[in-house]
Amino acid sequence: MQKPQWSVVWITGASKGIGAALALALAGLGCGVAISARNSQDLHALARSGAGLRGELWPYPLDVTDGAACATTLAQIEAEHGCIDLAVLNAGTHRPLSLDDFEIAAFESLMQLNYMGVVNTAVPLLRSMRRRGAGQLAITASVAGYRGLPTASGYGASKAALINFAEALKLDLAGTGVALSLINPGFVRTPLTARNRFSMPFLLEPEDAAARIIRGLQRRRFEIAFPWRFVFWLKLFRLLPYWLYFPLVRRITRA
Ligand SMILES: NC(=O)c1ccc[n+]([C@@H]2O[C@H](COP(=O)([O-])OP(=O)(O)OC[C@H]3O[C@@H](n4cnc5c(N)ncnc54)[C@H](OP(=O)(O)O)[C@@H]3O)[C@@H](O)[C@H]2O)c1
Repeated sequence: MQKPQWSVVWITGASKGIGAALALALAGLGCGVAISARNSQDLHALARSGAGLRGELWPYPLDVTDGAACATTLAQIEAEHGCIDLAVLNAGTHRPLSLDDFEIAAFESLMQLNYMGVVNTAVPLLRSMRRRGAGQLAITASVAGYRGLPTASGYGASKAALINFAEALKLDLAGTGVALSLINPGFVRTPLTARNRFSMPFLLEPEDAAARIIRGLQRRRFEIAFPWRFVFWLKLFRLLPYWLYFPLVRRITRA
């Protein structure tokens, strides 16, 4: 892989899954990577596992639902390592919500983490990047945000909100020197998807997902969606009228 143009990277949700694979891959390419998640021990274990790589992993424990802590952590990273060239706002979780689970708190916590967690980090990052007229920001949403799917009224809505947020921001950032990417993964084998009790089509390993994300970021692509065969079908579904979409999805998911 081509040597990346980033010296200092910040990844949230970096202790496990896609974020951890991305952090290790970027450190392997020589980047310094600030890694954030809530569990400090996991972050330190990941940093130890990356010893010997060309770049370094720097743990910065953070709960992204705490807006003030996001701003403080960003200031701390920039004071200790310099300006952030690339930030990947990846912290998120999934919780299927059946009709029996319809509790306000479940929706609130998904929105607080998946949507507000990105907003809380993007706002101070954009302030810093716009001041410099440089930087690259990437937001991890999901192909589940393209259209409504069974039991995903909480998760899918939070990811749809992120997709719309990124589309609007892309337009607003024109001419500022700040690049924006939207990462929409299909199924990736991580602790998050390990809970799924159904067969996941086109499942990718996290290392494969990380390589695809890095390639897309290096090309400064707006949408980095993968794997393409899954994305192709889901994008096609997005064009279908409701009278066709609902029976088709019911049949495929047996909902
Ligand atoms: N895996 C997939 O198939 C898939 C598909 C599409 C999209 N995605 C998206 O990709 C992202 C990563 O998913 P993943 O599968 O790698 O998930 P994962 O394995 O569950 O990892 C989630 C990461 O987020 C951190 N995190 C959770 N709550 C946090 C909080 N409040 N503040 C800061 N960090 C927090 C976790 O560490 P702590 O618990 O220690 O905080 C962990 O490092 C998510 O946004 C997910 O929605 C995943």
